[in-house]
Amino acid sequence: MVRIKGIGAYAPKSELHNRDFERFLDTSDEWIFSRSGIKSRRISPPEQRTSDLAVEASKKALKRAGLSVDDVDMVIVATSSPDTLTPSTACITAAKLGMDKVPCFDISAACPGFLYALEIATGLLQTGKYRHILIVGVESGTKFIDWEDRSTAVLFGDGAGAAVLTVDEGPYGVLSTYLQGDGRLGELLKIEVGTAYPPGSWGVRMRGREVFRNAVVQMGEAAVKALQLANLKAEDLDWLVPHQANLRIIEATRQRLNLPREKVYVNIERYGNTSAASIPLALEEMLERGLLKEGDTVLAVSFGAGFTWASAVIRWG
Ligand code: COA
Repeated sequence: MVRIKGIGAYAPKSELHNRDFERFLDTSDEWIFSRSGIKSRRISPPEQRTSDLAVEASKKALKRAGLSVDDVDMVIVATSSPDTLTPSTACITAAKLGMDKVPCFDISAACPGFLYALEIATGLLQTGKYRHILIVGVESGTKFIDWEDRSTAVLFGDGAGAAVLTVDEGPYGVLSTYLQGDGRLGELLKIEVGTAYPPGSWGVRMRGREVFRNAVVQMGEAAVKALQLANLKAEDLDWLVPHQANLRIIEATRQRLNLPREKVYVNIERYGNTSAASIPLALEEMLERGLLKEGDTVLAVSFGAGFTWASAVIRWG
């Protein structure tokens, strides 16, 4: 089975609390926390690139896996906030890690990007052509924020999570993956950077209420689909690790599966929405805290711009 041999995460040191926004926006700690579940988020300084976050997380993942950079046969980075359009953040990250002669590319699938990368890497490892693939979910999305737009500025944070995947005969690994998307709804949530927008008009634009409604439905669908594909029921789960975008969306997903609260991992209050980094950041934190144990069955589920949504069931170990 394809399994996660090592996982690592990194978040920038600088923290922005809800109260900090009160100084320059018409908002309040109470509004932000009650609507989203967020209390603070990490912000990468201008000189810290997306690839720098990816490098820190990757080093930890490699260490946990007991591997060196020479063991990595491919690097896939999922991000919506790349250092540059080209070269890819995967190539920059690989170079900073000291790798040469390694296939490397980015994927753009917004918040579910890490789960998209997981399915791509799983399929490639199953061909037998590669031994270890490094996948990274990373964002410095706050660099695109319009700090005058209170409806988006308060929601996002920066971070990175990485996993080294391998394939072996053991009982642990990826039991199922499910990817989905609907580009017709893309207008509802966008990072407006690219050929469609004139220079200087950057920003994250979101129609929050409509995104919310879709997220609740699609997170629920993705959760059910991955369980079906793994031939499991919700009661077989030890953990639900949902994308951390909004506590009320997480709660709706929990209710759809009828899971007790203690089986749902939540860290949104400290990181906000870190998009593609959200799920590996949570997994690493769970491992670090001794919550994630060998043999645990974990359902990860995510939703984001595109729209894209995705899920995976993993038997941890
Ligand atoms: N502080 C204070 N008021 C704010 C605010 C802020 N930071 N942001 C928006 N508001 C205001 C709005 O302007 C609106 O005012 P109005 O009624 O006078 O127009 C009011 O609060 C209600 O806005 P609304 O969008 O209905 O609030 P909501 O309950 O839907 O919560 C979100 C807003 C953004 C928290 C919520 O819609 C959401 O989480 N959506 C999904 C976001 C998401 O997950 N995106 C990423 C997907 S990966």
